[in-house]
Amino acid sequence: MGFKFITAEEAADQIKNDDVIGFSGFTAAGCPKVIAQALAVKAEKEHEAGRPFKVGIFTGASTGDSIDGSLSRTHAIKFRSPYQSNGDLRKELNSREAHYYDLHLSELPQYLRYGFLPRPNIAVFECCDVTEDGEIILTSAVGIAPTVAHLADKIFLELNRFHPKALKGMHDIYEPADPPLRREIPVYKPSDRIGVPYIKVDPEKIVGIIETNLPNEIGGFTPTDEVTDQIGRNVSDFLTAEIKAGRIPASFLPVQSGVGNVANAVLGAMGLNPSIPAFEVYTEVIQDSVIKLMKEDRVKFASGCSLTLSTEILSDVYGNLDFFKERIVLRPQEISNSPEVARRLGLIAINTALEADIFGNINSTHVVGTKMMNGIGGSADFCRNAYLSIFTTPSTAKGGKISAIVPMVSHVDHTEHSVKILITECGVADLRGLSPIQRAESIIENCVHPQYKQLLKDYLKLGVKGHTPQHLEACFAFHNAFNKTGDMSQVNWNDYK
Ligand code: COA
Repeated sequence: MGFKFITAEEAADQIKNDDVIGFSGFTAAGCPKVIAQALAVKAEKEHEAGRPFKVGIFTGASTGDSIDGSLSRTHAIKFRSPYQSNGDLRKELNSREAHYYDLHLSELPQYLRYGFLPRPNIAVFECCDVTEDGEIILTSAVGIAPTVAHLADKIFLELNRFHPKALKGMHDIYEPADPPLRREIPVYKPSDRIGVPYIKVDPEKIVGIIETNLPNEIGGFTPTDEVTDQIGRNVSDFLTAEIKAGRIPASFLPVQSGVGNVANAVLGAMGLNPSIPAFEVYTEVIQDSVIKLMKEDRVKFASGCSLTLSTEILSDVYGNLDFFKERIVLRPQEISNSPEVARRLGLIAINTALEADIFGNINSTHVVGTKMMNGIGGSADFCRNAYLSIFTTPSTAKGGKISAIVPMVSHVDHTEHSVKILITECGVADLRGLSPIQRAESIIENCVHPQYKQLLKDYLKLGVKGHTPQHLEACFAFHNAFNKTGDMSQVNWNDYK
């Protein structure tokens, strides 16, 4: 059969109000662009004509501006899962114009297969190649595409010439069977390949292809600064000491590193530390720092779900595909983030907190308890199941007006039971084997910014008895002070005595 080449507008014409779309991609890597833009134009016209037009959207993780930005600005999103990081979408979610279901990234594909969530009837994928018999080669990410391909009635492809066909071979597509038939996921080391390099679909389902030539919509990282560099050094010094103490094997263990500026700085610092051997990465997002370290022979292999690289670095990878295809594998997120594999491989998981409390609970998602920042992403897939789970955060935010360490987190994503090590630019709190009061003392001593240290020591002196001395009226006093005065340090414990 011959495929039908169509325009983005013709694709958008076939997408109806209330449809549920599953997009390929993971972060802005591998995301389709022009169909979402055309859909936003259609939504605007429909709204102007007084007709409702909103669609449900599932993606791998965050997306480029063409999906989350365009569709938010035109109020075209009915619901959204599992992760986002777009300013306009954030506004839609926090005004509850769009509903958001924040979900562990490894779980989404199986939730869709189990029928726990609305079925995506439309698939929109970016690919670098497709064969007549329905073998789709994705571009720089995998995400949820293998599952959506099987569930959707119609598949639209953006055949993006920016990505070379020679990418074929970097992806490893594998979908586990569902219970009660599921077996182990046979990944025993980060470089194991267990699937095929393409998604196979019935070619009849591919209803239209749009040719494009567009780079990923990935913004650059903020350059590291004194604080993030110091966090990175603290992490790498801590890991070096763990090797010396024999608690991490001398050959080291695979590393999972989270998203964002802090995570990028941490990996950079680990690469610079000669006491840490060249290591492997088993993670979800392969960021710029991994590629740099791979070229310096400091990272031996990287397994991930996406190449979330600046265009310059991605072009470098594409220019040296023979080198990188031997060193990188891109997997679906239920494999890259599999709790089973994380536990088996013994990952050193390093993720970033928005806020931590003195007892070791972490808030990764909610600004001052109510406003969604991005989402939990894969942090809990890894944190709970890692060999060693580390959380990092700058000790303060907003020029010191916010202490990242508070008496009680205003929203809990990771509990004290999963969080083993907390690291800020001030130092390291090793929480292993400590009771709540010991954890509080260690975190205050080692991680809290000097400006907030005495305030948190005084919190513990409010005289609460019990295993965890949490003062139920005063535990959100930092947040209340911030909401009232714009500065957490304005808290006054006398109000609670
Ligand atoms: N209260 C309010 N705002 C805070 C805050 C706090 N306690 N701590 C940080 N912020 C703000 C910062 O000021 C900054 O705001 P800005 O964008 O207006 O400048 C923003 O949050 C991001 O902080 P930054 O220090 O630049 O961190 P980052 O880019 O490393 O991102 C997370 C941090 C937590 C938002 C990010 O790591 C995330 O989304 N994590 C959840 C998902 C995850 O861990 N995925 C990885 C799994 S592999």
